[in-house]
Amino acid sequence: MLGNFSYCNPTRLYFGEDSLNFLNDELPKYGKNIVLIYGSGSIKKNGIYDAVMDILKKNNKDVAEISGVMPNPSLDKLYEGIDIARKHSTDLLLAVGGGSVCDYAKAVAVSINCDEDPWDKYFIRFEEPNCEIVPVACVLTMVGTGSEMNAGSVITNTATKQKIGHVFKSSDVMPRFSILNPRYTMTLPYYQMVSGIYDIFNHICEQYFSGEDDNVSDYISEALMRSVVHSSRIAIKDPQDYEARSNIMWAATWALNTLIDRGKTTDWMVHMLGQAVGGYTNATHGMTLAAVSLPYYRHILPYGLAKFKRFAINVWNVDPSGKDDTQIAEEGLAALESWMKELKLVMNISELGADDSMLEGLADVTLPMPGGYKQLDRAEIIEIFRESL
Ligand code: NZQ
Ligand code: ZN
Repeated sequence: MLGNFSYCNPTRLYFGEDSLNFLNDELPKYGKNIVLIYGSGSIKKNGIYDAVMDILKKNNKDVAEISGVMPNPSLDKLYEGIDIARKHSTDLLLAVGGGSVCDYAKAVAVSINCDEDPWDKYFIRFEEPNCEIVPVACVLTMVGTGSEMNAGSVITNTATKQKIGHVFKSSDVMPRFSILNPRYTMTLPYYQMVSGIYDIFNHICEQYFSGEDDNVSDYISEALMRSVVHSSRIAIKDPQDYEARSNIMWAATWALNTLIDRGKTTDWMVHMLGQAVGGYTNATHGMTLAAVSLPYYRHILPYGLAKFKRFAINVWNVDPSGKDDTQIAEEGLAALESWMKELKLVMNISELGADDSMLEGLADVTLPMPGGYKQLDRAEIIEIFRESL
């Protein structure tokens, strides 16, 4: 392990079919005023809203609500939520939903007691909060982002078409606790399920495709990737398979909860490209990643050949005999591609609403990251978007 680092993850997880009961253990630790945050209504249809409300009432909490948090939460919605949370003198922000709802709760949490504009401070200048951060907790209903156990928050400024993520350094931004009931994910539409599965897989890739040293993080990553591929193949045939869905849920958390990037630089370029597409099209996060991944990975393969070869052999069981390194590495990417097609992921950005006329604009909002095998220049970014059309 190279480098110097510390490791602490303060989020307490409750996992399993009965995990919501633990809300009763957690709620007494916080004051009376709870803000319940959720999306556009799935939790009302599937009964999760009633189950959570019941526990909040039994614990004598005074509940205000922020509803209608959209996928890719917007800055305007953030301002609205800050206002509600301030008026309610919030003691705990309880997010019930997917990554969007959880990310949004964190953005509210760092803004309630902040005098500055949160967009400029946190998403343009990437500053840390210097105010009191209101505690966040999460009841997860959609699997993929890892937001339930990390300090990331992604907000979209629809006026400027900028979708920007800030991974806060302060661990106080992380949820204090998260409740992970795999059953809650069973009502997800197929499109969201596979989008989340690819999001998980790509989070692992973003941390795996970097560095040349022998690092335990890469071995953990390979195991997680194999598990995600295995369980996904079961879940697409039978989305109600609890074992597969629970494995996917647990893998998602470990894919992006600060563990597997220890001692490494990380890439995150697929996310930068995907977020640019998201800012322009408001497309589903995991699909934006799927649509740009292969052109990007084929582009950087020569610069990270040894790792792409290892990926082919250790994740996809490519038989190396009689082949040179490039052939092996390319077979690994071909195996990735055919798995993505099995899942029926969106494989190009035009299907998500992007077109030729957007290429320059997409490049304008794409942040080139330095931690992967090749830092892209503007021409390369445009070329990769063009190949993704
Ligand atoms: O609005 P509701 O009714 O909740 O419906 C949601 C939404 O339409 C629906 N859904 C969620 N749980 C459901 C359900 N429908 C039926 N049954 C259920 N149990 O699914 C749709 C998508 O939800 P969303 O929360 O948007 O999905 P996801 O979890 O993929 O979150 C995406 C957001 O997270 C950000 C993305 O950029 C995007 O804004 N990310 C956050 C990260 C982090 N915090 O570290 C990292 C990721 O890379 C990502 O960037
Ligand atoms: Zn992601």
